[in-house]
Amino acid sequence: MNLQTITANHRYVVQSLSAVHRTESVHAAVRSGLTSWPKTLPPILFYDERGSKLFEDISELPEYYLTRTEQAILDRYAPEMATYCAGELLLVELGSGSSIKTRTFLDVLYAGDHRPIYQPVDISESMLHATAEELVGEYPELIVRAIASDYDQGLVEVGEQRDRQKVLLFLGSNLGNFSRTGAQELLWKVRQAMAPDDILFLGVDLMKPWPILQAAYDDARGVTAAFNRNVLVRLNRELHANFNLDRFRHEVLWNDDVRAVEMHLQSQGRQTVFLRDLDLLVAFEDGETIHTESSHKFTPDSLDRLCGSAGLRVEKSWTDEQGWFALNLIVPAVDSLT
Ligand code: AVJ
Repeated sequence: MNLQTITANHRYVVQSLSAVHRTESVHAAVRSGLTSWPKTLPPILFYDERGSKLFEDISELPEYYLTRTEQAILDRYAPEMATYCAGELLLVELGSGSSIKTRTFLDVLYAGDHRPIYQPVDISESMLHATAEELVGEYPELIVRAIASDYDQGLVEVGEQRDRQKVLLFLGSNLGNFSRTGAQELLWKVRQAMAPDDILFLGVDLMKPWPILQAAYDDARGVTAAFNRNVLVRLNRELHANFNLDRFRHEVLWNDDVRAVEMHLQSQGRQTVFLRDLDLLVAFEDGETIHTESSHKFTPDSLDRLCGSAGLRVEKSWTDEQGWFALNLIVPAVDSLT
């Protein structure tokens, strides 16, 4: 495994992909995205230290209903969710961020005398450190085994552990960033990391009228715009690029074919950008965009079908009063068991 341990204290450890590998994969992704047509950059690039903090700010915006709505569902149903968990469990979380929602679940587990091992998987190493340190302070006896990596690499590690029931959390509609086939492939890897008795709690954002979605992804204070542009800030710093931030507009649109909100950065005027570390010149037409993110929205049916196509089954769904967000209990489909 291409993982190295970078920090350990008595109660938590953070393992990380080696820095060399990460730089190479960022370089490759940026080169291929900016030389394609239409131009794209993968959303994973948002989450450097500043980007992770900007996302935390987004999650508190009045327009960004996702985090708050999922939190309300958890507040109400976490005790019921915990009844599906065995005594000694490994609590895995994909895209854990600052693990705020996780605490609601941990509180319920602790009240029921469960002492889980917590395994957050996140691309932001700094976030994992800070969070692991906080959590071991807040929860007596909690052991945190964090993995700083992308989901694919993290899931391989996760799958190797078979000594406890695994409860996987994949919250916040993080799955929504993947295309239909990307989501299918990822869920298939999740399935492969699961033993027959393991379970997955998957949070997905549901279809709703466009004005609500538009406001959520184009907020009045411009925090989402800053989050979107941060990818250029990052390329300027890490790849010695010369993107002029004032000449890329934050654009949000609805793609009805795939049912996703798309974020783009739209070039204001014709311009050329140079990325020194890639020795790459990139030309933009006036109005041309870089597609930076898709956030797919689900229906109960589309989720059923997606899970079914990945050897999984939706066992139960919890939702809010408006039906805006769904937290789902997902289990391996019986006919997919090997
Ligand atoms: C963290 C991927 C769920 O798609 O809603 C927030 C990221 N993008 N505002 C989302 C995001 C713009 C968010 N996810």
